Amino acid sequence: MTAVAGAGSRAARPRDPFLPRPFVVRRHRQDTRDTWTLVLEPVDGVPMPFAAGQFTMMQAFGAGEAPISISGDPARPAVLEHTIRNVGAVTRALVHAAPGAELGIRGPFGTGWEVSSGRGGDVVFVAGGIGLAPLRPAVLEVCADRASYGRVLLLYGARTPEDILFGDDLRRWAADHAVDVQVTVDNGQHAWQGRVGLVTQLVERGGFDAVNTLALVCGPEVMMRYAAMALRARGVPPARLRLSMERNMKCGVGLCGHCQLREYFLCVDGPVLTYDVLEPLMARAEL
Ligand SMILES: Cc1cc2nc3c(=O)[nH]c(=O)nc-3n(C[C@H](O)[C@H](O)[C@H](O)COP(=O)(O)OP(=O)(O)OC[C@H]3O[C@@H](n4cnc5c(N)ncnc54)[C@H](O)[C@@H]3O)c2cc1C
Ligand code: FES
Repeated sequence: MTAVAGAGSRAARPRDPFLPRPFVVRRHRQDTRDTWTLVLEPVDGVPMPFAAGQFTMMQAFGAGEAPISISGDPARPAVLEHTIRNVGAVTRALVHAAPGAELGIRGPFGTGWEVSSGRGGDVVFVAGGIGLAPLRPAVLEVCADRASYGRVLLLYGARTPEDILFGDDLRRWAADHAVDVQVTVDNGQHAWQGRVGLVTQLVERGGFDAVNTLALVCGPEVMMRYAAMALRARGVPPARLRLSMERNMKCGVGLCGHCQLREYFLCVDGPVLTYDVLEPLMARAEL
């Protein structure tokens, strides 16, 4: 596997990547009907530095382990934030970990968004559903260094208005950091006055200098496929278009093969990969 394949550099790994470190849940916030954010602190007080886009293996003792992206601020490594959708046994145990509970954390693993490589140009974030969580650290990084970037767009598609994550962040990024936040929902019943439709339609509206744009995309694979095609159609170069590929993972360190996508082990070569690597792979449905 080559470091060239991943968009970001592999960050320093713990000495024993299989040994979970104990973290204690400090805060526990319900974001939507099925999604919670946990704020954790290391029991030994030693911070876990991470790059935006990396993930950890989170262990709920007795229930199992799941790969979860870090959704917190890379500038604040003393606290670790994870935003988790309750879909099965492990994630159910994680989202129900109340303040004071201990969880095991391995990592951080994988490649990052390498957002700073977009300095001097425009940045477009395209998120679908809980895909906004792995992008949040990258948005925070851009906001902290806002003057180094041109136009910044955040295009976000959620299933319903009730599924929109990080509402306070979205308002703050728009008001305080001149991020052009555009939200659309698949189903806009009730009192929703905003856009209804696919996030790809927001990409088609443009508003960014495509050839000088860094585009970071995260969401369900089918959404990423169409978002990437729309970004390419507008002229974003494939090497400046990055997707986070969330395949089945077990070890997180390139040994078990669960996450293999042709010659790539997505736990170490990804999850963030550039589109010039991914385009030929995504064209083949069985991969
Ligand atoms: C690199 C990486 C980063 C991730 N980051 C996050 C994150 O920030 N927040 C978060 O909530 N989840 C994230 N996930 C997905 C998360 O790991 C899975 O949802 C979790 O492993 C499910 O475990 P479970 O035992 O609770 O459910 P299971 O019993 O394993 O699965 C329950 C149901 O969910 C489906 N499912 C499981 N995993 C996925 C998946 N990856 N994509 C789509 N459907 C799936 C299964 O097919 C099944 O129908 C990430 C996955 C990867 C690989
Ligand atoms: S998760 Fe084991 S090789 Fe990637």
